[in-house]
Amino acid sequence: MSDALHIAVFASGKGSNFLAILQAIEDGKIPNARVVLAISNNSDAGALSIAREHNIPAIHLSQKQFATEELFTGALMETLSRHRVNFIALAGYMKKLPAEITRTFRNRIVNIHPALLPAFGGKGMYGMHVHDAVIASKAKQSGATVHIVDEEYDHGQIVLQRAIHVEENETPESLALKVLTIEHEIYPEAIRLFAEGKVATNGKRITILSNS
Ligand code: GRF
Repeated sequence: MSDALHIAVFASGKGSNFLAILQAIEDGKIPNARVVLAISNNSDAGALSIAREHNIPAIHLSQKQFATEELFTGALMETLSRHRVNFIALAGYMKKLPAEITRTFRNRIVNIHPALLPAFGGKGMYGMHVHDAVIASKAKQSGATVHIVDEEYDHGQIVLQRAIHVEENETPESLALKVLTIEHEIYPEAIRLFAEGKVATNGKRITILSNS
């Protein structure tokens, strides 16, 4: 068994993926892991309320509170270190992480994206834009992807992916609901792989040792 995961969740919005992760931990589905911190750039984020309801430190940290990007990065790094964070899960975080964070936590940051990457990813592909683009393309499948976060949007290696069928009469709204349901399944599953030491790092790449 590897070291326990001390997870910081970064979220900007309502936090349903964050809640799915918390519930999986509380249900014993992710042994060896706990969420030690929630960070949001948005003081109104539902994710911060969810954290407070679960007695998890909830911190509003935004670039706008600091005179320079360096000071913001320093505050983030200090907060992560003070809470002994060793793993980061982005759950609807709408900002790009500073490069110092992606470097320091290389292969220890994951994100969930509401499509089958590398399709329908990259800058501007977030929220309903993704589902609009999938429907417009007449793709027969969509889904969700958990991937490693590196310096580029939606670019790092894929940890887990699950596909769903796009129906003939599918709308972006109905697709979003279906995709969100599978997000709530695969995000906790992906974190469990890390918690159980089933993700090995070989230089820059990760390998999933087993998915049972
Ligand atoms: C999800 O669709 C996720 O794929 C994307 O942002 C959304 C966050 O939703 N990265 P929630 O805040 O977890 O409900």
